Amino acid sequence: MSIWRTKSIEQSIRDTDEPGHRLRKDLTGFDLIVFGIGVIIGTGIFVVTGRQAAVNAGPAIVVSFLIAGLVCALAAMCYAEFASTVPVAGSAYTFGYASLGEFVAWIIGWDLVLEFTLAASVVAVGWSGYAGDLLGVPTSLTLDNGYSVNFGAMFIVILLGVLGLLGTKLSGRISAVIVAIKVGIVLFIIVVGMFYVKTANWVPFVPPAQPAPAETDSIGHTPLTQVLLGLEPSQFGLWGVIAAASVVFFSFIGFDIVATTAEETKNPKRDMPIGIFGSLIIVTVLYMAVAAVVTGMRPYSELNSDAPLAEAFRAVGADWAGTLISLGGVIGITTVILVLMMGQSRVAFAMSRDGLLPRGLSKTHPRFGTPYIMTIITTVAVAVLAGFVPIAALEEMVNIGTLFAFVVVSIGVIVLRRTRPDLPRSFRAPFVPVLPIIAALACVWLMLNLTVDTWIRFIVWMAIGVVVYFAYGRRKSLLAQADQKSTTDGAGTA
Ligand code: ALA
Repeated sequence: MSIWRTKSIEQSIRDTDEPGHRLRKDLTGFDLIVFGIGVIIGTGIFVVTGRQAAVNAGPAIVVSFLIAGLVCALAAMCYAEFASTVPVAGSAYTFGYASLGEFVAWIIGWDLVLEFTLAASVVAVGWSGYAGDLLGVPTSLTLDNGYSVNFGAMFIVILLGVLGLLGTKLSGRISAVIVAIKVGIVLFIIVVGMFYVKTANWVPFVPPAQPAPAETDSIGHTPLTQVLLGLEPSQFGLWGVIAAASVVFFSFIGFDIVATTAEETKNPKRDMPIGIFGSLIIVTVLYMAVAAVVTGMRPYSELNSDAPLAEAFRAVGADWAGTLISLGGVIGITTVILVLMMGQSRVAFAMSRDGLLPRGLSKTHPRFGTPYIMTIITTVAVAVLAGFVPIAALEEMVNIGTLFAFVVVSIGVIVLRRTRPDLPRSFRAPFVPVLPIIAALACVWLMLNLTVDTWIRFIVWMAIGVVVYFAYGRRKSLLAQADQKSTTDGAGTA
């Protein structure tokens, strides 16, 4: 029973042509850009920017965005090649199963479950911050024992979960309108905000390094690189800019989801790179501009709040603009939660259909045709996390999980070029193997700049995954069962 067994790529691709199961191939490069921006722009720019400027990078948060964007661009080339070699609906999990074997696929799938579930929770908390700002009422409650409950985040998660259960889909037109509103608000922030910029706020651009404040100077809160290099826990300075890059990386998550639509794309060879790079370039430019404007509007130390972009406008007396931004945030961030929750239930659904998780979990609802058990589990998990766990603890976990998936995909591209040079690749990453190696190293570098606590949590999560695979999926997967059947049949006929 090999843990390296693969689902054949040819079979996976043939399956996509099966009558009655064929997805329409009608997406263009432009559609992919719209979809990409719809998933990418969310809590990252609306919330995380402010906090990271305040605690790690100061105005140099602009540079942090550039670094994170460049790392994503490297990984994007590998993602695009991987997706175009195995143009089958699904995420890196599906690609992995067809190319790198069951164990690696399981690891990617387990990792994606972490990424999507936690990302949806973080984004929901960001949504709640803007909903609170818009309504002028608190959307979270701090209990006497110091714990807080974010009921705003729980509300939106449960609402979207129920819609998902009923099979409600956003039509292409509604998504396009929401994306237009979101981009419109971001442009509004940049253009109107420019009038309130005081250049004095940009000085110093990179605030000098200083010892981390007492509440965060424990080893657990320190980036792993600083611990490995024996540096004193610090914030700001050059290390701060890099540490902020590995956190604002969160704002770019989602471009990888564009790759999952390869099967529905008219001409993947041309449209995949347009979709992935188009959305990536647009958001990088927007993010850098927003970061420059807000750090120019207010001293960076005052940007640490629940709805920093709206508050930056309120602080300069433009309350009306603050309200407009909150409204745009609430509308725009909703689609991100929706796509992430759907992504999560689809990956877990696929893993269960392949037998790596109990098959009962992938039952679809008799009336609505949705994977309802998986949707309910996802909704409850996301609601509990968003409701009760502090957001900063969650967002770093999302990043480490996603970066890890990028590392596996980058290495996968090199492996697949060697093991299956014959496969048609409608998009080929340039400079293989050098580029994927640089991509993998860049992702590892960002991972190393996340905190020690994040690493411990991540290692524990992955270790649980390995145990679950060997205790369950390895024997129960459909491929394992097929192997077993052919061995028994073979023995019977021998
Ligand atoms: N990139 C997404 C966001 O920032 C996850 O909300």
